[in-house]
Amino acid sequence: MATQAAATSEIAAVGVIGAGQMGSGIAQLAAAAGCGVLLLDSDPAALSRAVASISSSLGRLVAKGQISQAACDDSIKRIKCVSDVQELQGVDLVIEAIVESEDVKKKLFVELDRITKPSAILASNTSSISITRLASATSRPSQVIGMHFFNPPPIMKLLEIIRGADTAEEVFSAVKCFSERIGKTVICSQDYPGFIVNRILMPMINEAFWALYTGVATKEDIDTGMKLGTNHPMGPLQLADFIGLDVCLSVLRVLHNGLGDNKYSPCPLLVQYVDAGRLGKKRGQGVYSYGRGVYSYGG
Ligand code: NAI
Repeated sequence: MATQAAATSEIAAVGVIGAGQMGSGIAQLAAAAGCGVLLLDSDPAALSRAVASISSSLGRLVAKGQISQAACDDSIKRIKCVSDVQELQGVDLVIEAIVESEDVKKKLFVELDRITKPSAILASNTSSISITRLASATSRPSQVIGMHFFNPPPIMKLLEIIRGADTAEEVFSAVKCFSERIGKTVICSQDYPGFIVNRILMPMINEAFWALYTGVATKEDIDTGMKLGTNHPMGPLQLADFIGLDVCLSVLRVLHNGLGDNKYSPCPLLVQYVDAGRLGKKRGQGVYSYGRGVYSYGG
């Protein structure tokens, strides 16, 4: 399929949609690589939190001597917060990081397809939703791709790129070059439920919930067991809290529906925590209770 996508050297303006845990970190990375960034969220409070979190994240890099104060100030200046998707019409690349719902993401992709210039690449940071189905909501499926960052994006080295059924080779190459430009190591996945990392990670997290639910052990012993017994930097229950229990549940449902195997069926305890609003670190309460200012990976 013919594509009008921008070459990587032309990716100068980036739109990031969703200014939560992931979008704020992605905006920081693009700005630090010299791109102009338009950061959009439907919730003004999320934008204020994102600006504060980007400033403090860059401030920590200055304090560690990893970047200069001038580089920090320049990055911050390159990020403009916006509230109207119409403002993204001139960007070369959009990275969507909104709520993990196929319907909501599809609606946004329809709008982005209508608004953005024909050469713009539309990427999703989805943890598990089919890129092919998101692409099918647009008139440019060859320019739709998955860019799956890990949490927190400025710290985690990995970026999983997902080719949809129709993603053009030049779009894949442009996104791979851009990903390396922002300092990431790229792995490439075909478009199957959970891609590579979550397909392997989420069954482990689910099993940890089953172990807790059926009284095999305490949460602390489950996490300590996996940390010290398998050399993971954090246990699966704590990792689930850092990813967000709502995100874990969504991914498990996608795996369960897409692969049709009961081993992916979410543990009732995980479902109950999400129903109770115990969504993990971002809400201060998940499997564990949290204060402020802690960081880790996953999702
Ligand atoms: P989050 O809940 O921290 O942030 C989502 C943001 O999107 C919120 O600020 C919300 O106001 C905004 N939003 C929701 N619908 C919107 C819309 N229609 N238009 C504009 N803004 C909208 O979520 P988080 O953790 O940043 O996740 C975002 C995406 O990234 C999800 O698809 C998730 O699966 C994926 N992801 C999450 C990871 C994690 O560890 N949390 C890791 C990798 C991917």
